Amino acid sequence: MLHGSSAAPAASECLGTFSAGTSVALDGSMSMSRYADFLKGLLREPAAVSAPTPSSPALAAVIAAKVEPAQSGLVVELGAGTGAVTQALLDRGIAPERLIAVEYCTYFAGLLAQRFAGVTVVQGDAFAFERYLPAGSQIAAVVSGVPLLNFPLPRRRALITRALALQGPGGRFIQLSYGWRPPITSAFGIAPEKTIVWRNFPPAHVWTFTAQEQPAARQAPVQQAAGRGQAVQALFRVSPPTP
Ligand SMILES: C[S@@+](CC[C@H](N)C(=O)[O-])C[C@H]1O[C@@H](n2cnc3c(N)ncnc32)[C@H](O)[C@@H]1O
Repeated sequence: MLHGSSAAPAASECLGTFSAGTSVALDGSMSMSRYADFLKGLLREPAAVSAPTPSSPALAAVIAAKVEPAQSGLVVELGAGTGAVTQALLDRGIAPERLIAVEYCTYFAGLLAQRFAGVTVVQGDAFAFERYLPAGSQIAAVVSGVPLLNFPLPRRRALITRALALQGPGGRFIQLSYGWRPPITSAFGIAPEKTIVWRNFPPAHVWTFTAQEQPAARQAPVQQAAGRGQAVQALFRVSPPTP
């Protein structure tokens, strides 16, 4: 299902038609039609996409492996693109009803909604992801493909600390990056764990921030976010999980 967002920035120019063409293997791991879909988005929105290819299945699997399926709550994917990581999360055992994909590019958002039945797809801004969550949501992990290094440091820091503050102990913010430096050096005093994935073009880094104990100082953002979530639930009518 696809939800448009009045809270999102003006819909990007990243428009196109969705290909439902037959898949021709490029290298046994990525289909020609999927790569064509990615190129359409890249050509229309190069700065936002900021990568020459979608994540390889190997990279997507490494990212998904950082998410613990037994951790209860929603898995929020920011900058889902053509859905390489979305697919890996599903393969990891995350039920589609637990997944919310926030994608800025209109074309990619439509593609995701078409490709992944049961996943909630929002055309919106990752930096305001809390607005798209149902009221009182519990979050198990936030996974980001947004090219954060293209954004100013204060915005990166605000996004990551808010995402961790919304989660309980063990909650995670997992960031895909083609840069060799982390999006921020630490969150709540904890440095991210680094994983390098060579089986991707270009080789990529996965930076994992793990929420530790929940000190009292971190309760306020959770309550604020729940308030925003209530307003948004009315706006977007995020569907409840299907049994
Ligand atoms: C490097 S691509 C990653 C795509 C996909 N996650 C993958 O691994 O193949 C970055 C994605 O982030 C999206 N994006 C960039 N800025 C965004 C924002 N502010 N909010 C939501 N999505 C954004 C782009 O449109 C693009 O789909």
